[in-house]
Amino acid sequence: PKPKITIVGSINMDIVTITDQLPKMGETLIGKQFKMNPGGKGANQAVAAARLGADVRMIGCVGNDSFGPVLKQNMQKEGIDVTNVEPVTDSTGTATIIVYQGDNNIIIVPGANHHVNAAFVESKRDVIADSDVLILQLEIPLDGVQKALEIAKEHHVKVILNPAPICELPAELIEKVDFLTPNEHEYALLQKGLDEKELKEKVILTKGSQGVAFYQGDQEVSIPAYSVKVVDTTGAGDSFNGGFAVALSRGISVSEACRYGNAVAALSTTKLGAQTGMPTGEEVEVFIKGMKG
Ligand code: RIB
Ligand code: NA
Repeated sequence: PKPKITIVGSINMDIVTITDQLPKMGETLIGKQFKMNPGGKGANQAVAAARLGADVRMIGCVGNDSFGPVLKQNMQKEGIDVTNVEPVTDSTGTATIIVYQGDNNIIIVPGANHHVNAAFVESKRDVIADSDVLILQLEIPLDGVQKALEIAKEHHVKVILNPAPICELPAELIEKVDFLTPNEHEYALLQKGLDEKELKEKVILTKGSQGVAFYQGDQEVSIPAYSVKVVDTTGAGDSFNGGFAVALSRGISVSEACRYGNAVAALSTTKLGAQTGMPTGEEVEVFIKGMKG
């Protein structure tokens, strides 16, 4: 049977400007290209997992503006179960993204994502309970994240927390997580809340073009990234998380799951937009074979 993966998280419209130059404060510049793409770390991770062949359920909120239905339909078109994506009286989450030399900076306005709180998540208890893996990020209220974790633990569901964007995390929260997938910046801020044992058991550190690192016992293991021609790294972390989750739910070892996540992430960076370049399971297989020569 297909692995059941549930995502509790954000849904955003990405409003993207591609530019060769960054403006100084108060300055106006002419950019190169403009795009609106479905995004949000939660939705991106859901799309990544769905394309890889998992049975994916999304739990989240969209606004009552024109973006809301567009984003919901987009996920549905990807084969994601959107029964638990609910419209609320607010603006849909947005991410204003500047893409500059393949890299990006982002400002998020959560809007509807603010409504994915503990009460909302509690109302989705049965969906979470009936999952193999739960993926969480930090673009919804922390009490929503906490509630999802509690439900998952009661029902022995594996939890991956992608701590992005990073904030201070209570120790009780970290305790319940099976895997934490910070990037280097997030890791630096996360470290204070972690004891040595947790760090070694739970952290999968994602380092972009340097690949990922984690501990196997006391030994640090490094899984190199695949090298590709990068167009846009937006959503690369989400692609890794989606890939890692799908591989884990199939019972693959952590290091193989990291390798698989790396392949998904690498492919995703070869196209503009967070979801645009996310590969299907078949594309990943072909890519990995090709890389082995
Ligand atoms: O991780 C990339 C995502 O972060 C973008 O799609 C944007 O919506 C922000 O949430
Ligand atoms: Na991309």
